[in-house]
Amino acid sequence: MTEAQDRSDWVKRPAAAIEQTGCTLEQYQALYARSIEDSEAFWAGQAERIDWMTPPTRIADWSFDPVAIKWFEDGVLNICHNAVDRHVASGRGDQIALIFEPDDPEGEVRRITYAELQAEVVRMANTLKAMGVQKGDRVTIYMPMVPEGAFAMLACARIGAVHSVIFGGFSPEAIAGRVDDCRSDWIVTADEGLRGGKRIPLKANVDAALEKVSAKAVLVLRHTGGQVAMADGRDHWYHELSADVAVECPCEPMRAEDPLFILYTSGSTGKPKGVLHTTGGYAVWTETTFRYVFDYREGEVFWCTADIGWVTGHSYIVYGPLLNGASAVMFEGVPNHPDHDRFWQVCEKHKVNIFYTAPTAIRALMREGTAHVAKHDLSALRLLGSVGEPINPEAWRWYHENVGKSELPIVDTWWQTETGGVMITTLPGAHDMKPGSAGRPFFGICPQLVDNDGEVLDGATEGNLCITRSWPGQARTVYGDHDRFVQTYFSTYKGKYFTGDGCRRDEDGYYWITGRVDDVINVSGHRMGTAEVESALVLHPKVSEAAVVGFPHDIKGQGIYCYVTLNADEAEGEELTAELRTHVRTEIGPIATPDHLHFTPALPKTRSGKIMRRILRKIAENDYGALGDTSTLADPGVVESLIEGRRNR
Ligand code: PRX
Repeated sequence: MTEAQDRSDWVKRPAAAIEQTGCTLEQYQALYARSIEDSEAFWAGQAERIDWMTPPTRIADWSFDPVAIKWFEDGVLNICHNAVDRHVASGRGDQIALIFEPDDPEGEVRRITYAELQAEVVRMANTLKAMGVQKGDRVTIYMPMVPEGAFAMLACARIGAVHSVIFGGFSPEAIAGRVDDCRSDWIVTADEGLRGGKRIPLKANVDAALEKVSAKAVLVLRHTGGQVAMADGRDHWYHELSADVAVECPCEPMRAEDPLFILYTSGSTGKPKGVLHTTGGYAVWTETTFRYVFDYREGEVFWCTADIGWVTGHSYIVYGPLLNGASAVMFEGVPNHPDHDRFWQVCEKHKVNIFYTAPTAIRALMREGTAHVAKHDLSALRLLGSVGEPINPEAWRWYHENVGKSELPIVDTWWQTETGGVMITTLPGAHDMKPGSAGRPFFGICPQLVDNDGEVLDGATEGNLCITRSWPGQARTVYGDHDRFVQTYFSTYKGKYFTGDGCRRDEDGYYWITGRVDDVINVSGHRMGTAEVESALVLHPKVSEAAVVGFPHDIKGQGIYCYVTLNADEAEGEELTAELRTHVRTEIGPIATPDHLHFTPALPKTRSGKIMRRILRKIAENDYGALGDTSTLADPGVVESLIEGRRNR
């Protein structure tokens, strides 16, 4: 039986979703066809939902060889006006824009209307201006998950500054690298963050970073009230500096291709890249994807559990929901504090209609059993989503049965920092679902699978996932290094955007992402370059060489496995293991903490000195049968001792 005939593992889209949705299968097919065949007219139509100061007449102008991407080029707009002011102007000022749920379940919930959001964003914008921030300046935002983080992003957009948000879990080293890379003179932070009852020393981390790089001013939000040092002339309390700023701040007219934000993400080589998104295309893309993928309806409460430090938070906590005038939950805490029912308690409390989370969270909660879910009234839920990594069918089914009561559709959305928004997904009313498959391409998206030589593979097949046409939300460049952008994404397969992911397409045209095919690993949905962890390890004075690979991990999806060769005379042991783990946390941040450190006198290398990562991956996976040809190794004996070392762990 072919896969197409065997529909036993399909999950039908529920009748309710079909009735309610704005997009049935027939509509999807018609819209998709139009988005490809008459792409410019299609996107000009989608762009009409945005308020333009000057509407665009030039819709798309792009090439992948040479690489130059422009959308809505002659349009002028302000994305903050679109996300905030226009809702107030159209009489929806009293509607809730953001619902803040604090880390402590007993803490104060904040419900911020669009009118209040406008006032807050203006206050933040004028405060940034008072510090000296000007159009085009880069502003680093290193904030906890509190509304002021979103205010800061929107305030930058309002005055034409370019925000660069850094996840609150990154180390001073990582902050310094990013501040330096985009030459950001301004930093917005808080005294401390709070996650799962633990305090995160945000301001102290910024201070440590600023011992290595300089900034003109630091704006500090008082959040926990913890003690922090304030440098005279450089550091300003937000509540003080904002006390007497003006209550009006016009939205700066921005050209569609003016930069909106930089977001650093890991690749297979070198330092993290500052992926640059521009204004008009990103606005149209996040507005459209949010509307269709989540089938958003007025008055609904949407909750994306990501952090604003990642692209998911940018596109689906801040820009996508607010551009659609939605009410978005912003959650400061973690899924398992104070107990494993925290997500479901928040869903019940705020009557969440659409819930969007990551497979790693689902797997962790699944392990705790169903009672935590069962004790909450989740009847407001209408749609579930997943993002960040492949979701294993077991976790999909648990999510569907327990959270979705076997009724709710799940959108498994595949996309990347570089794509700005969702690229492959089922649409709730249009497609039946297959657990583990992201589904079908979104409007305007042309996926293509190619083999390692770049030959195009047709039909049901597996290969490297490329995208052959541009879409409005595509990243335009790597900040300050366009060559790196071209090299990373467009040189492996000339004329195509290469995603770095492997993928299978089945006979129904559904896409199944199989994971990264480059040296990037996905740890709890966070992208990590193995080269970054290796660089951190070799910075340690006792380490001579390191090779890092991913291995399958029950909860995290992938874990971090480090092979480490010490300098002569250094002795391995538990103490050094702990020291190296701490060292990597300090260099990068807790998300990069190694799961395994495997000390070895040597690494398997070819005669020309290249580390054989394929072999290291297999050994980390405990898969010794398929090591392939080891005859080209300079010293084949190394493999035997590595296997023995792995078996003994
Ligand atoms: O490998 C894919 C995986 O996450 C990578 C992108 O990571 P990042 O830029 O951090 O963005 C994450 C959130 C959009 C991809 O190359 N990935 C993301 N979503 C999925 C996924 N893999 C499988 N299924 C998904 N739904």
